[in-house]
Amino acid sequence: MKRILVGISGASGAPIAIRLLQRLKESYDVETHLIMSDSACLTIEQETEYSVQQVKSLADIVYDIREIGAGPASGSFQIDEMIIVPCSMKTAAGIAGGYSDNLLLRAADVMLKEGRPLFLVARESPLSPIHLRNLQELGMIGVRIIPPMVSYYQGYKTIEEWTNNFVERLLEKLEIQNNVKAWDGM
Ligand SMILES: Cc1cc2nc3c(=O)[nH]c(=O)nc-3n(C[C@H](O)[C@H](O)[C@H](O)COP(=O)(O)O)c2cc1C
Repeated sequence: MKRILVGISGASGAPIAIRLLQRLKESYDVETHLIMSDSACLTIEQETEYSVQQVKSLADIVYDIREIGAGPASGSFQIDEMIIVPCSMKTAAGIAGGYSDNLLLRAADVMLKEGRPLFLVARESPLSPIHLRNLQELGMIGVRIIPPMVSYYQGYKTIEEWTNNFVERLLEKLEIQNNVKAWDGM
């Protein structure tokens, strides 16, 4: 059983997080832990038809972001991989600065100090020099930065189609069974 910690912060892209949680729920050998920021609740409301409660019901275990003494706050609590999707520039800054004043930031800090895999679906546009510096610093210490960028060559007709495919790529990175179609040339 693989334990995956999904963080949702308040950047645009809540539908990606929901699709990822749905796909993880289909994986019988994955236990999903979830932490959402307060701003994530706003973007879920703004960008999706889901209630916060419905999003929570997609995970096996849900933590309040203020629950700073919960399992993921400690390195002795085994989390195999953590992904923050979407990851706001504020949360990226908190991780880059080691400023762990909520459970989401603390859990990411623990992943780094324990040398465990951390993935950030970092989203902002345009990116300021401060955002770029923080992301670069994180990338240099092994954090995988996966911005939700559209590729036109794959010919998606709808944003749902693109979202579904992007989530398959995330599953591939998390080494979970996925439906990624390998590029077979032009
Ligand atoms: C609808 C909406 C969309 C937002 N989109 C982004 C975004 O794409 N990237 C970003 O860095 N912040 C975005 N923000 C601002 C963040 O939510 C804000 O900086 C917040 O403090 C982030 O806190 P968190 O990282 O704890 O979720 C957005 C806010 C709202 C309400």
